[in-house]
Amino acid sequence: MVTASAPGKVYLFGEHAVVYGEPAVPCAIGLRASVTAEERSAGMRIQASDLSLDGFTVEYDGEGRDHPDIDVPDTLVQAAMGYVDEAVTQVREAADAPEASFEITIESEIPLGAGLGSSAAVAAAAIEAGTRELGVEITPTEIAERAYRVENTVQDGQASRADTFCSTMGGAVRVEGDDCHSIESPDLPFVIGYDGGAGDTGALVAGVRERRKEYEFAADTIEAIGDVVRRGEQALTANDTEEIGNLMDFNHGLLSALGVSSRTLDSMVWAARNAGCLGAKLTGAGGGGCIVALDPTPETLTALEYTHGCEEAFRAELDTDGVRVESE
Ligand code: MEV
Repeated sequence: MVTASAPGKVYLFGEHAVVYGEPAVPCAIGLRASVTAEERSAGMRIQASDLSLDGFTVEYDGEGRDHPDIDVPDTLVQAAMGYVDEAVTQVREAADAPEASFEITIESEIPLGAGLGSSAAVAAAAIEAGTRELGVEITPTEIAERAYRVENTVQDGQASRADTFCSTMGGAVRVEGDDCHSIESPDLPFVIGYDGGAGDTGALVAGVRERRKEYEFAADTIEAIGDVVRRGEQALTANDTEEIGNLMDFNHGLLSALGVSSRTLDSMVWAARNAGCLGAKLTGAGGGGCIVALDPTPETLTALEYTHGCEEAFRAELDTDGVRVESE
């Protein structure tokens, strides 16, 4: 039995545009998903809790599948199951064990579909735990590649490497197409607001694709996000948190124009701005979930705690640890 964990992340800049080859800078944060894999003789069994779901157990074998008996939107459950299924496919391939079956237990501090990279963290941790359980050790680069394939399959061929590379490597990373590497980042005073909801990443990514097809200025908006990211990288190098905040505000406006913000995300962003934060934006696919703000003072956290629609507000720190084995 092997347990591995991987961190969630916030996007400082660049979500959605990164799917079209623009650069993005996600940062791993200290909320982790843990996956335990135990080989079993036949049939898969998956248990999950704390995924902002009530928890579910599914046992299945081959084609037949039981549907988990819980009261949450089907799309979310299917997405969660899809990530686990695809991760197991990657484990079987990496270990050259096409018949391997597991009992998989997921415990996560990262809310599902909320823009904090829960699926990437589950995919990376599941691949690490599953391969080790089969006695195979693969490199972080291979874990990141295989976790990317998981996301790409579940998102219908429309995923970037940003979430999975960040979750595997930890720290701050820069991703532009296939070019992924770790970068230096100052410790940023992240404050996160969570509306208790979730967005369907596949549907949101598809929505941006439709907009881009319909309006040429949506393609310009995506390129403008790339420009924001490039300026943001200069600000990061200069440790200019004020400018990083300004650019986060800009990035949020461009994401709104692409149709991926929501009323609660916007009200949390404005509550943070009114409280005097350096900058605030939605993080991840959008549609609901989380915003990230920068504020070294307690003001934003307090304001978010009193904002209608914000269910939870907390501080987060950059986590330099990527995927890691917890026990074996
Ligand atoms: C989702 O966390 C981030 C997106 O940019 C999709 C992706 O990069 O695959 C919206």
